[in-house]
Amino acid sequence: MQTKLLTDSPADIAEAGRLLRQGEVVGIPTETVYGLAANALDGRAVTEIFQAKGRPADNPLIVHIASLEELPALVEEVPEKAKRLASLWWPGPLTMIMKKAPCIPPEVTAGLSTVAVRFPVHPVARAIIRAAGVPLAAPSANRSGSPSPTTAAHVMADMQGRIAAVLDGGECDVGLESTVVDMTKEIPVLLRPGGITLEMLRQAVGEVEVNPAVTAMLKEGEVAASPGMKYRHYAPKAHVTLLRGGPVAYAAYVNAHAGPGVAAMCFDGEETSLTVPFLTYGPRGNGAEQGHRLFDVLRAWDRRPEVTRVYAACPDPVGVGLAVYNRMLRAAEFEVIDLEE
Ligand code: TXA
Ligand code: MG
Repeated sequence: MQTKLLTDSPADIAEAGRLLRQGEVVGIPTETVYGLAANALDGRAVTEIFQAKGRPADNPLIVHIASLEELPALVEEVPEKAKRLASLWWPGPLTMIMKKAPCIPPEVTAGLSTVAVRFPVHPVARAIIRAAGVPLAAPSANRSGSPSPTTAAHVMADMQGRIAAVLDGGECDVGLESTVVDMTKEIPVLLRPGGITLEMLRQAVGEVEVNPAVTAMLKEGEVAASPGMKYRHYAPKAHVTLLRGGPVAYAAYVNAHAGPGVAAMCFDGEETSLTVPFLTYGPRGNGAEQGHRLFDVLRAWDRRPEVTRVYAACPDPVGVGLAVYNRMLRAAEFEVIDLEE
C-alpha cells in the first residue's frame, strides 16, 4: 500500500473524510499527538488500526468527537462531574472514560464496558471528524512501544506503506498525549497525566484519585486500570536512566560515568558543565516546554546509534511535569537513581 501524504487544504480534508468513511485508516493531527484514525462505529475498520500499529488487542482506543452533541449517543450517561470537566476543557487535551453505549463495537474498547471519549481542539482534527461524518477511534500514530508522533514526518517514518494516508497539519502543540480520567467512579481517577493537570482537575471537581500506575511499575499479576500503562513505552533503543537531583549533582554523576556510547538528556543551560554529548529538553521546572519537546528528543536518540546509554535529568512531577515524569519513567523502564546533594 502506498501511503498518501495529504495537506490540510479543504480538498485534502474532504479526501481524508472519504477514506475514513470507506473504512480506511488515516493519520491525523491533533493538539496532543498525531492519531491513527478509523471509523469508531465500524469494528472491521478499527481492527485495521491495531494491525497497522502492532498494538495488543487488549488495549482500548479513544473515540474522538467534533461536537458535544455527539457525546450522549456514545455513552450510557454523562456523569455530573464529566459535564463540569467538559464545560471547562472540551474541546482540549482531556479524555474521559464513561460507560459505553451499545453502538460502540467491542474492538474499540477491547471488550471493556467503558469507552474513552475526547473532543480535540485542533481545527484540522475537528474538520476531519466532520468530513468523515462519524466519530473516529484513534490511538497515537506510532508503532506500538515507540514514542508518540508529534509531526507528520514521525507518522510517515512509522506507518509508510501500512495505512491509506497521513494528513499533515503541522507540529503538535502540547506534544504529550491527553490527560485520561476515569469518570465512572464517584471520585474520578487520573489514569494518564497530560496537559490538563491533576491540580486543574482537583480545582474543578474536588477530590481526584491518582492510579498508582501513573508513577509506579505494576506489580506482577496486577491488573492495569488503563491497559496502555502496562506496556514498555516511549523507549528509545538506548538504555535510559533517570537521575533525580539538582543540576550540580546531575552533572557530577554524568561526567563521572562518561565513556563510549554515553550521552545526557538534560535541561536547557545545564549542558555547559557536561563532558558528554547531550540533547536538551526544556528548562528545569517548565513541564509544558519539556512536554512539547520530549518525544522529538526521545526519537532523536534512535538517529544516533552510537549512543547506547542516556542519563536523563528527572523532571519535577508537578503540573504538566507529572505527565513528563510519567512518560520518562516508562522510557527508562522505571530505572531512577536518587543523587546525593
Ligand atoms: O492525546 C491522545 O489521547 C492521543 C490523540 C491521538 O488523541 N491518543 C492517544 O491514544 O494517546 P492511545 O491509544 O495511545 O492512548 C489511550 C490510552 C491508553 O493508555 C488506553 O489503555 C487508555 O487510554 N484507554 C482507552 N480506553 C480506555 C478505557 N475504556 N478504560 C481505561 N483506559 C482506556
Ligand atoms: Mg499511545
